Formats: sequence, structure tokens, C-alpha cells
Amino acid sequence: MSVDLLLGLQWGDEGKGKIVDVLTQDYDIIARFQGGPNAGHTLQFDGVSHVLHTIPSGIFHPKAVNIIGNGVVIDPVIFQKELEKLTPFGVDFSNKLFISKKAHLILPTHRLLDAASEAAKGKAKIGSTLKGIGPTYMDKTGRNGIRVGDILLEDWKDRYQQLRDKHLNMLSHYKNIIDFDLDELESAFFESIEQLRGLKLIDSENYLHQALKDKKKILAEGAQGSLLDIDFGTYPFVTSSTTTAAGACTGLGIAPNVVGEVYGIFKAYATRVGSGPFPTELFDEIGETMGRVGHEFGATTGRARRCGWIDLVALRYAIRVNGVTQLMMMKGDVLSGFPTINVCTHYQTADGKIDHLPFSIAPKDVTPVYETLPGWEEDLTKMTDEAAFPKNFKDYINYLENALETPIKIVSVGPDRKQTIFR
Ligand code: IMP
Repeated sequence: MSVDLLLGLQWGDEGKGKIVDVLTQDYDIIARFQGGPNAGHTLQFDGVSHVLHTIPSGIFHPKAVNIIGNGVVIDPVIFQKELEKLTPFGVDFSNKLFISKKAHLILPTHRLLDAASEAAKGKAKIGSTLKGIGPTYMDKTGRNGIRVGDILLEDWKDRYQQLRDKHLNMLSHYKNIIDFDLDELESAFFESIEQLRGLKLIDSENYLHQALKDKKKILAEGAQGSLLDIDFGTYPFVTSSTTTAAGACTGLGIAPNVVGEVYGIFKAYATRVGSGPFPTELFDEIGETMGRVGHEFGATTGRARRCGWIDLVALRYAIRVNGVTQLMMMKGDVLSGFPTINVCTHYQTADGKIDHLPFSIAPKDVTPVYETLPGWEEDLTKMTDEAAFPKNFKDYINYLENALETPIKIVSVGPDRKQTIFR
């Protein structure tokens, strides 16, 4: 048996939550492998929209087991709120939500350090979600972090205090003083730690190894997108984890040779939230329309997302880095009504026209080269079958499939579970 991966191929917000939710019926286990509450995975069904940050997107299915892997960073306060939001929907997570003891904890002072670091960067800020993600992964790789399993140890508060004091010392070196009430933050933190202690804390890699032996079907759910990957993204405007396929191995403890299908999700256009280069970004009415029609506002921060045309150079790169075997195209419906659609096929650089992602994609280094395709007028949101698609939309899908040399297996035409067309 193998582990299938589901990854975002752009700058996040591709619609991973929806697709995991749709695919969960075919899987026994859904496992998150990186990121933390910076993610906002939106699921919509029965007229209700749910946003998950840390909890895997299989939680609403009655049978699937959901695992938060060792590669994830957990803010217990946000996690507690997320769990509370599940209660009115009758979700009993007690026997189907397991958390790796090796996952790292986001402390209140990690969040403060994130805020201080961003403020100090001024114009060069990353545009972080300010959830403490960067500082927590820094403590992980710096071998100072606190893991979920540590909260079961007798001296856990000493460990906490040691790290907190180190953080307070670091904060005192920042020129921009951040206002905070640590007592208040700590009181919420310790209350949520008590709740976390009562959940199923496990050696998740061992659980997954056994599940593989028992021939269970496992889906690894990525967060953010390939272009935000710490190594392969648009550094330094990236997140602090491995968002690409390799992250599923390190973030769950699974070997590369058990990876089966790699599902790559992309939007029919492109969006980015936060700072950093975005070659196909639109600053005109077309970009505004995409944002309005596509409701392009961050599920975690509410910030307006920057919008632009699809970038095949970046997508090809993401497909290669991840070994994508099947594509899923989201939000094709948002492009209805544009007379023509631009597709970025190459970048013009000082060294000529290239079709691979270079070291820098800053505006001074690359200019997008477009091919223009005809648009379509029809509303796609009520279509339930590929046969109903207008010719120009079908041509758009075929064009992308050919250019990306990978089959597009799912086309999503709206946020609801039902608005999903399998090809
Ligand atoms: P951080 O991960 O909060 O430190 O943010 C780093 C960068 O990644 C910022 O540009 C964020 O806007 C972006 N980012 C982080 N998480 C997400 C996400 O789930 N979707 C889209 N962008 C994200």
C-alpha cells in the first residue's frame, strides 16, 4: 500500500481543503505533514463553510482517521478554538484525531517574536501571517523547541520557562517595542495545554507504518504551496517548512518508496498573499475582477490576495519538484466573462527567453511572455459534467494539460463539494 500526496502548486490557497474533503471517502487516514495555523483550509458542504487551520481536512468524514504529523507546528490556543468550532456539527474527534508527540509547539512568545521580526524588517517584511511559524521552526532546527510529547514530562514547565525567558531576552533587543500582556497570553496557553494533554498524543510515524502494513489508504495533506517552500519557493518570501513532496516524508516519517500518486492542485489563474515576486500579477480591472469573483481574501488573515494570470513556468517547476502524477484545476468558473485569457509560457530574461524558474523571479530579472487564448461567457458553476463545458473552456483545459504534460483529473467549478467534476 502507498501514501498519496496532495500538494498546492502555487503560492497556497489553491483549494486543498476542498479537494481533501472530496477525496476523503477513498481514504482511511488523512495526515497533515507541515505548516500550522498559518494555513486556512476551507471546506463547504450543506450550505456551511468551515475553515480549518491545524486539523486535517478529513475531520468531517465519519470514518477517516486524521493525523497531525511531526512536521506540523501547533498553537494550542488556536487548536482549542478550532476543536470547539467542530462541536456544534457533532464531530466526535476523540477517536479519530491523533497528534504526533514529535510535533512542535508554538509558544505565545513565538508569536511575539514573529511580530517583532516583521516590524523590524520594515519594507522588506515577508507578509507573515504572524502566527509564530518562523520562530517555532527556527527553534526546532536550532534544537531549542518544545514538542507536544514534552507536555507529558514532569519538568515541562521548567523547559517552557527556559525557552520563554530566552525569547523575552531576544525581544528586548528589538527596537520596535511590541506591546503585550504575557500573563494573559500564558493563561490562555496553559489552559489549552491542559486540553491538548487530554487528546490522543501518539508516535504517529509508528501508527502510519502499522497502517501501511494493514493496507490502509493514506492521504498526506500539504499546506501552503510549492512556491512558498523554504528551499524551492521565492526565498526569502516563503514560509519556514518544506511544502513540497519531500516534506511529506520528513513530516510524517514515511519513506519515499511508499509514495504513490502525487496530486497537484492549482488555480486556473494565480494568487499570492503577502510580499514577494509574482511575475504575472495584474494591477488592473482584470485582477480586481478575479479577486472579487473568486472571493480572494485570506482564510486565516482576511487579507486581500494579489491576483494574476496563470504561470506555466512556475507550474512546470512545481510539477517537477513534486513529481506530480495528476493535476486538479480549481476555480475555472472565476475566469468566465473575460474575452481573452493570458497564459504565461516563458520568462524573458537578460539571457533570453527561458521556460524554467530561475534563481530570481523579481520584476528586474524576468518579464512574463504570454500566449493569448479565447475566453468563454458561460457560467460554469452549475455544470456537473465535462460534456457541458463550453468549447473554449475545454480548449483551455486541453492546452494546460499539453503544456504541463500531466493529466488534469479534477476540475472544480465552485466551493461546494458538489461542484467537483472528475475527468
Ligand atoms: P508565515 O508562514 O506565516 O511565516 O508566512 C510566510 C509567507 O507565506 C507569507 O507571505 C504568507 O502570506 C504566506 N502564507 C503562509 N501560509 C499561507 C497559506 O496557507 N496560504 C497562502 N499563503 C500563506
